[in-house]
Amino acid sequence: MSKAKIGMWLYSNGGGGKISKNIIKKLQERDIETLDNVNLRHAIAKNGNILYDDIKLNKLDLFFSYNASEQTQYQMYLYQALNRAIPMINSYDAFSLTEDKFHTSFVLRNHGVKTADYKLCHRDDGYHLKRIMKKWDKMVYKPTDGWGGVGLTKIENEANLDMLMPFLNQMDLRYFYVEKFIDYDNTDFRIDIVNGKFVSCYGRKSSSDDWRTNVTSGGSIFMREANDEIVDIAKKATKACKVDIAGVDIIYDREKEEYIVLEVNGIPAFATPEQEKLGLNFNDKKIDLIVDLIDKKIKVSKKIKENIYE
Ligand SMILES: Nc1ncnc2c1ncn2[C@@H]1O[C@H](COP(=O)(O)OP(=O)(O)O)[C@@H](O)[C@H]1O
Ligand SMILES: [Mg+2]
Repeated sequence: MSKAKIGMWLYSNGGGGKISKNIIKKLQERDIETLDNVNLRHAIAKNGNILYDDIKLNKLDLFFSYNASEQTQYQMYLYQALNRAIPMINSYDAFSLTEDKFHTSFVLRNHGVKTADYKLCHRDDGYHLKRIMKKWDKMVYKPTDGWGGVGLTKIENEANLDMLMPFLNQMDLRYFYVEKFIDYDNTDFRIDIVNGKFVSCYGRKSSSDDWRTNVTSGGSIFMREANDEIVDIAKKATKACKVDIAGVDIIYDREKEEYIVLEVNGIPAFATPEQEKLGLNFNDKKIDLIVDLIDKKIKVSKKIKENIYE
């Protein structure tokens, strides 16, 4: 059997460079060669191939894509095409699902995973929002493809909504997505799962003047123990979304007295060097599980190919 070869594109900020090196080394030990820094931005598709320099990416055994900050429409378009030819981690379908908050909530609910109550309506049916507001008391408007808490707007009363509507109407949106505002203690759990296995748990808390826990919204990370219930929920959410690697955000709804999933992230960051100093020491475990996963996926896909061409 010829030596397996994969393509990889992993973020390089926040300690990502060191993580890449580690993954490449561990793959090498399993006789898997890695073509690093394959940014699809610089690839071109030509007839049956996706070319990166002279390399046919569609002939690789697998592609590992792990760079959240630099995903353009072009890259996503090639991601989708490439995944029709070779296995990818995460798969295009699963990754694009987690990139959309409505689709994620919809899938989670259909798999019995609790989320915040939500509604989606056509932009011309904004009157729905008024009716919902009466029922929910407070709600959150969310862009369905956002990240880092950007664009989230808390709507506390009907006057707020009346003020917001003209802005939303100007934005040429196709639809409105709103969630019931959950009464929680401004902290969350981030659970990392790789290949269905629990990797790590940490918490985030919002700053005193914000209700969002995102670090980009002033939130901070703290050490936090998981419990069986949370880990089960995270595994169930990961399975529902069919992601091989996930970071599941969970908060505790004080009114309903239950945990709910806020988000499933398809590219959850490794611990940064600063966070490692804080005690978040899950990077090695996560790397080992990812290397295992890559190895396993390559073997499975080789088996499938052998069977087809026999
Ligand atoms: N329905 C909600 N009720 C209360 N707080 C929320 C709700 N949805 C989100 N938040 C807060 O806002 C933060 C960002 O929301 P999230 O849906 O994870 O979007 P993003 O992709 O921008 O991180 C969450 O971490 C949480 O602190
Ligand atoms: Mg989030």
